[in-house]
Amino acid sequence: MKKPFLSIALASTLAFGAIGTQAVFAQETGTVHEQPLKVFDHKVIKHINAENIYNNIAYLSKTPRVAGTEAEDNAVKYIKEQFESYGYEVEIQPFQYFGYTPPHTIQLSVEGYDGELKPASFTYTVSGNVAGDLVYAGLGKKEELENMDLKGKIALIKRGDISFADKVLNAAEKGAAGVIIFNNTSGPVNGTLGGANDQYVPAVAITQAEGEVLLEKLNSGSKLTASVKIEGARTGESTSHNVIATKKPTNNQKDTNKVIVVGAHHDSVAGAPGANDDASGTATTLELARVLKNVPTDTEIRFVTFGAEELGLIGSTYYVNNLSDEEKDRVIANFNLDMVGSRDAGELVLLTLDGKPNLVTELAQASSERLNGAPTPYGQGGRSDHVPFAEAGIPAALFIHSPSEPWYHTPEDSIDKISKEKLQDVAEIVGTAVYDLARFDSMGPKPKKGPKVKADADMYFEQAIR
Ligand code: BES
Ligand code: ZN
Repeated sequence: MKKPFLSIALASTLAFGAIGTQAVFAQETGTVHEQPLKVFDHKVIKHINAENIYNNIAYLSKTPRVAGTEAEDNAVKYIKEQFESYGYEVEIQPFQYFGYTPPHTIQLSVEGYDGELKPASFTYTVSGNVAGDLVYAGLGKKEELENMDLKGKIALIKRGDISFADKVLNAAEKGAAGVIIFNNTSGPVNGTLGGANDQYVPAVAITQAEGEVLLEKLNSGSKLTASVKIEGARTGESTSHNVIATKKPTNNQKDTNKVIVVGAHHDSVAGAPGANDDASGTATTLELARVLKNVPTDTEIRFVTFGAEELGLIGSTYYVNNLSDEEKDRVIANFNLDMVGSRDAGELVLLTLDGKPNLVTELAQASSERLNGAPTPYGQGGRSDHVPFAEAGIPAALFIHSPSEPWYHTPEDSIDKISKEKLQDVAEIVGTAVYDLARFDSMGPKPKKGPKVKADADMYFEQAIR
C-alpha cells in the first residue's frame, strides 16, 4: 500500500520541474527514502480520482453482467457512453460463441411450505414454468422410478449416487414436469448437468435442510404443490461484445507505430454483481482513458473492455485472433486489470503467464517503486484476459490483489467491499507505467516481443510470487 507522502516533495518536484527530481517518502521503519518521482508521473496522478472509479463500479455492479444477456448489453452501452463522454471514438466488436447462458430468474414455491425457498439452478438447466404435485423420488435412479407415476409431477430428489443429469433425465423420462434436487450435505449445491440436452426438464437445487422439511411433510401425508420457474436459460449461439476506445498518437510525425492495450473484462458470473470481478478493472480502465485522453503521446493506446471472459476468455481471444499479423506485431504491451479493488484481498501483484518479468512488469515495477517506494512483486498466473496476449507473444501481465477476497464469484462481490485506496493505488501504478511507455522521449525499457507462451492447465493457477 501507499506510503505516506510528504507534500514538500511534490512542491520541490514542481518547482524544479526536471525529470528525476527527488520525491521523498517516509517508510514505515521511520527512515526516509528518496525515490525519483518523475514530473510526467504527476501529469497522470494529479488527475486520477478514485471517486470516479468507485462510482462507475457502483453503477456497473447493480446487477450481474453475464455474457450474452441484456445486462451485458446494458453494461456495454454504459461503457461506450463513458468513453464517448471523454471524447473517444468507440468501436463495439461483437462476437459469437456457442454456449450456455444461465437464467436471470430462478423461482420455486411450494404450497404448504412456510417460508421462502432459495433455489439455485444447475448449469445447462432449461428454462420453463411448470407446476404440479410434489412427489419424493428418492435418489432418482431408474429402478426407483420404475413403478412411480411422475406424469405432470414435480420430482423431489436427493443428491447422491448418480449424476444430477441422470436424475433429471430419469425423472423426465417418467413424465415429470420439473425436478428439485436437495443436497445431502450442508451448504449450497453448486451443480452442473454437464452438457446441454433437449430431454431435460427445468431443475433447481435446494439445501439439505429445505429438502428434509419438504420430505417430512410428504411423509406425514401432506399434499404439496410445487411451481418451478426458470427464465433466460438457453444453450446455443450467443453474442457478446468487446468495447474499444482508441487514443491515436498526438503527432503523426512522431508516431512509434506501436500499440498499448489497457483492458479489463466487463462480464461477470451469474448471481454475482461482480463489483471487484471485474467492474473494478473496467472502471479503472475508464478512469485511465479519461486521464490519458489529453496527454501528449507517441504511441497508440487502446482501452478495451472484454466480454465473455468468465466463459473462457472468449472476448480477449477473439480480439487477439482478429488482429492481423502486422497488427499483432504493433501491440507491445497488455495491461490486464482484473479484481483490483477489494478491501478484503491481499496486496497488488503482477502475474505473467510464464512467471517471467516482461515489459509490462518492468514498467509497473518501476512506477510502483517511484510511487510507493517498493516495486510491486510479480509471479506466475493465467485465468484472465492477458493469456491470449501472452500466447501471441505480446508482453502482458495481470494486475490483481493476492490472495483473493472470499467473495470471489459470490453474491457478496458487491460495492460495499470496494476500497477507494486500492483503486487509487492501482490506477496510479498502471497510469504512470502506461504513460512512461507512451509519452514522447520515453526513456523506459525498450519494447521487445515476448516468447509465445502456451497456457497449460496448471498455468491457470497462481504460482509463488517473487
Ligand atoms: N478474475 C478471475 C481470475 C482470477 C481469480 C485470477 C482469482 C486469480 C485469482 C477471472 O474472472 C476468472 O474467474 N477466471 C476463470 C478462468 C477463466 C478461463 C474462465 C477462473 O479462474 O475460474
Ligand atoms: Zn475476473
